[in-house]
Amino acid sequence: MIDGIRLTKAPIRWGMVGGGRGSQIGYVHRSAALRDGYFSLLAGAFDLDPDRGRAFGADLGLDPGRCYPDWQAMFAAEAARADGIRCVTIATPNNTHYPITRAALLAGLHVICEKPLTFTTSEALDLQAIAADRGLVVGVAYGYSGHQMIEEAARLVADGTLGEIRIVNLQFAHGFHSAAVEHDNPAARWRVDPAFAGPSYVLGDLATHPLYVAQVICPNLRIRRLLCTRQSFVASRAPLEDNATVLMEYEGGAVGTCWTSAVNAGAMHSQKVRIVGSKGSVEWWDEHPNQLRLEIQGEPARVLDRGMAYLHPQSLADDRIGAGHPEGLFDAWANLHCRFALAIEAHEDKDPARLAGLRYPGIEAGVEGVRWVEHCVRSADGGGVWVDYA
Ligand code: NAI
Repeated sequence: MIDGIRLTKAPIRWGMVGGGRGSQIGYVHRSAALRDGYFSLLAGAFDLDPDRGRAFGADLGLDPGRCYPDWQAMFAAEAARADGIRCVTIATPNNTHYPITRAALLAGLHVICEKPLTFTTSEALDLQAIAADRGLVVGVAYGYSGHQMIEEAARLVADGTLGEIRIVNLQFAHGFHSAAVEHDNPAARWRVDPAFAGPSYVLGDLATHPLYVAQVICPNLRIRRLLCTRQSFVASRAPLEDNATVLMEYEGGAVGTCWTSAVNAGAMHSQKVRIVGSKGSVEWWDEHPNQLRLEIQGEPARVLDRGMAYLHPQSLADDRIGAGHPEGLFDAWANLHCRFALAIEAHEDKDPARLAGLRYPGIEAGVEGVRWVEHCVRSADGGGVWVDYA
């Protein structure tokens, strides 16, 4: 069970490229990296616009002198400091991943990079060789693989519960880009422009996620050959696809399919990974990440839940909150602590106007909970009778 105690000697001095104000994924990186104190955010080139990036870094509480106009300035200045960053996260559009990761590695930095890592395999192999040569880590932000039930699925494959793996069925098909939203949305616009997105849209942006999850669950499967068709249902996106279907054949005879789409109208994420073996199947759906469906042929289907004692010890080792609580608990609590902090500051500043409309469970909520329980107990202990609420 993870309880916030850091397992490393010290926080890693850390910087970010991209992930600035209003970006989709920047805050996800920061909240994940900072939560247990594994990383300490000290520097950043957060934005394509240098002034906006500097202002954002200052708002995050960074030393303004370490909020840089661009990544080149950041890598040079940080390398010259005895207390310079040791790792950088790259959360910029896809076209920049290769040059920035390469420069970071050459500057001696470990890298956490967004996906897709690069445009081409030869670029990715180049990064792999540089990292190996210099003894540096490159992490890729396939975040869904961190869900605990993925670990459990991997254990069920490894211990033979599913039998011989026959079929891998992958899907990441949302509906958010069913219309040409990119006309009004800059973050969607670069995704459908090959100069920024690379040779694909949904294949790289979406399908690489379940592809990696399946690799975690079935580490021994190697793709032998594949067949892909792709379409641009919003025609202006051509040559990039907003829908694609892939057939895969693995060494040893297993087969796979992957449907990925941004035009699955009405759907939310619809990221699903189903692994079918000779004895049974597992299925994981990212919209219900606390559960893993286990179906053994001839037996009733089971829904395994995160945090339960029947899971493999390795799945439980990843647990942070115990059974029952949903994984969104941390987000809800973070929202609550934001409001507690705003309320405390408004009280200390003697500015009650700032409390208007600030909803948080305060003393009244505490009193009400106690009053309710007291009445329930009095009613029950009185033989299950009506009691007036006062
Ligand atoms: P976005 O367009 O919302 O934000 C990009 C940010 O990078 C902006 O702050 C922009 O100013 C900054 N930026 C762009 N070029 C820069 C440069 N040269 N130097 C410094 N900052 C620069 O993009 P979004 O959606 O946050 O995506 C960023 C990356 O994250 C993409 O590669 C995307 O594929 C990936 N992503 C991954 C997700 C995941 O689940 N792992 C989810 C969403 C995005």
